[in-house]
Amino acid sequence: MNYTANKILGPVVYESTDPYQFTAEEINFFKSTLKSYNSTWGPMASKDNKVLESDHFKKVKEYVEQHLKQYVHEILQITDDVEFYITESWINCLEPGKQHPIHTHANSLISGVLFLLPEESKLASPLVFGTDSHEVFRGFEFPYKVMDYPYILHEQGKLVIFPSSTAHAVPYNRDELERWSLSFNTFFRGRLGVSGVNAQEAVGNRLTLF
Ligand SMILES: [Fe+2]
Repeated sequence: MNYTANKILGPVVYESTDPYQFTAEEINFFKSTLKSYNSTWGPMASKDNKVLESDHFKKVKEYVEQHLKQYVHEILQITDDVEFYITESWINCLEPGKQHPIHTHANSLISGVLFLLPEESKLASPLVFGTDSHEVFRGFEFPYKVMDYPYILHEQGKLVIFPSSTAHAVPYNRDELERWSLSFNTFFRGRLGVSGVNAQEAVGNRLTLF
């Protein structure tokens, strides 16, 4: 009755450890993007889905792009033949008592979340990953003995990056404070499946996107 068991495959979730320091002007800007959107089920989201293109968020965008590059080229080890770029970015505000149900991001390859507010709170809801304890039986809700969803605590200025197909959620906001975050999606341009300058042993079907 001996055995070994190893978890194989699965997404890599990236966390920045040099939290972004927001200026008062940047905080005013992201608050202003959220024109009243009365949500009965989940977070309020900005109608503007290009907030990182704003002049007010130039430094924020730089911070996000530098970490995105590290995730793509250092963690995933994708060569410089391919570049990932931000396609859309928006602001979320989760009011007390609301939750953001589990979801994935369609039409995107890599997604990320930057925690904005509260500045400091022990009650701020974490970012939770997985549809079940193993992220294997998607669509089924088995009664597990242990439901240890991986999660990342909400800390102002922290950036989290993960594959867009990774299911994630924010549990009920039990804080008295609103929970603010920025989300973004990406796509890529470059050459796939070619023996390019940087891809030494590339195989497979070829695709080039500009
Ligand atoms: Fe999301």
